[in-house]
Amino acid sequence: MKFRAVKAADAATADVSIVPLFDDKQAPKTLPRGKRAIVDRLAAERGAATLYNVLTHVGGDREGRVVVVGAGKRAEYDAERARNIASAGIKSLWKTDAKTAAIFVDGTTIGAARAAQAAVEGAHFAMFRPEAHRSKPEERRLPPLGTVSVVVDGNVRDAIRRGDAVGEAVNLARRMANEPANKMTPTIVAQEARAVAKAAGVDVEVLDRKKCESLGMGSYLSVAQGSHQPPQFIVLRYKGRGGKGYDLGLVGKGITFDSGGISIKPAEGMHHMKADMTGAASVIAAIGAIGKLKPKVNVIAIAPCTENLPGGGATKPGDVFTSMSGKTVEVINTDAEGRLVLVDGITYAQREGATRVVDVATLTGAIAVALGNHFSGLFGKPATFVEEVRRTGADAGDRLWPMPLTDEYRTEIKSEIADITNSAGREGGAIKAAAFLDAAVEDGTEWAHLDIASTYWSDRDRSYSPKGPQGPSVRTLVALAERYAR
Ligand code: BES
Ligand code: MN
Ligand code: ZN
Repeated sequence: MKFRAVKAADAATADVSIVPLFDDKQAPKTLPRGKRAIVDRLAAERGAATLYNVLTHVGGDREGRVVVVGAGKRAEYDAERARNIASAGIKSLWKTDAKTAAIFVDGTTIGAARAAQAAVEGAHFAMFRPEAHRSKPEERRLPPLGTVSVVVDGNVRDAIRRGDAVGEAVNLARRMANEPANKMTPTIVAQEARAVAKAAGVDVEVLDRKKCESLGMGSYLSVAQGSHQPPQFIVLRYKGRGGKGYDLGLVGKGITFDSGGISIKPAEGMHHMKADMTGAASVIAAIGAIGKLKPKVNVIAIAPCTENLPGGGATKPGDVFTSMSGKTVEVINTDAEGRLVLVDGITYAQREGATRVVDVATLTGAIAVALGNHFSGLFGKPATFVEEVRRTGADAGDRLWPMPLTDEYRTEIKSEIADITNSAGREGGAIKAAAFLDAAVEDGTEWAHLDIASTYWSDRDRSYSPKGPQGPSVRTLVALAERYAR
């Protein structure tokens, strides 16, 4: 799917025109006369302007198919609406053979660039469906869209490029998270990372168990020892400004299946834990987009990947390991494995010279108890950095909510036998997990932790994504890289 910006006159031949209709029922000014007549007719129908409601006119004539998408109140229009409108329009084409589409975009309230980027993202989001392994092609088909034209006044070339890279990255993260654990092992994640690196022109290195042992990653490797799948510690490097160090380090939890280990999870819902590598998928996808967009910034992405299984060699509750930072950890609950792999990832990022570290993880069920399913939890330090991440994320379309992290919680994760324990009671579970990660954050490092266990999956269709993997945080990570470009 290719995107281009066009003026209305050049969009006349598209198979489909996707047109937003606001509550004032005024068709976009740029709409050519014939299509305008169709939109005006549809506008008279009930519910025409109802948010994301789709009305379609199928003309065999030169007007083609006209898809009117309810855009709600004009005054409430924002980037999120633009995404949803484009997405609803494209999704209505799932059963069609449309090869070209023109999306009319309203740039008057939020600016042409912002609206165009959002529309491109939304179009991408609608080109993902989770039924990847249905044997009947029609149950997983998507329209054969070759070119999507964004109809808007203004110079939006860069915006479209950004929307394209970001939209594609989100879909990649969703696709990876959606795969069952037998088809997305640590080795396969590493293959995906190599493919991303090749396409985006970033460097890739995969550390095996032996290499990780020599680096002292006892915490990460403790999770891998109960599985027959070899662990893969994936490192991707993008040097957009040259020079030393990294302006941004991304660390993503890569548990390709989380059974809980010896502290095994109940059977009900356990299959969801195939997506416990969503953080890894997010950082891999994000650095792929960053490589394509080429901002003048250095970014390192790290994905410590392994299964968490209760094999004969598995960690037993009470076992003690030494992390790469030198701190010792007591594993009270083998199901609190995410923090174990992340601390070594965070330490590695800092050893490589990352001055800011953002980790992304499906870390705790507790974050969903706290926030429901509409916000990811946001932790970190210093507060100024956390707020910067929150605002950048919100601007990019991810919803992050700040959570507390103070010394009381740091005290509560002290172990009786080692430095820290990976499980310290249910209350404030998401915060204690964050406090554990904090133990690996060195003085002077700016750090943010995104707990996406609340948002990585949706059991319901959403306006711009079907139920299934949602791909949270990818947009935030790309936007942060652009923010720190110089
Ligand atoms: N991967 C889970 C967290 C999770 C739960 C993600 C539900 C997505 C949906 C994590 O490894 C885990 O098991 N966390 C435990 C921690 C506890 C044992 C301290 C939890 O949340 O129960
Ligand atoms: Mn777990
Ligand atoms: Zn987990």
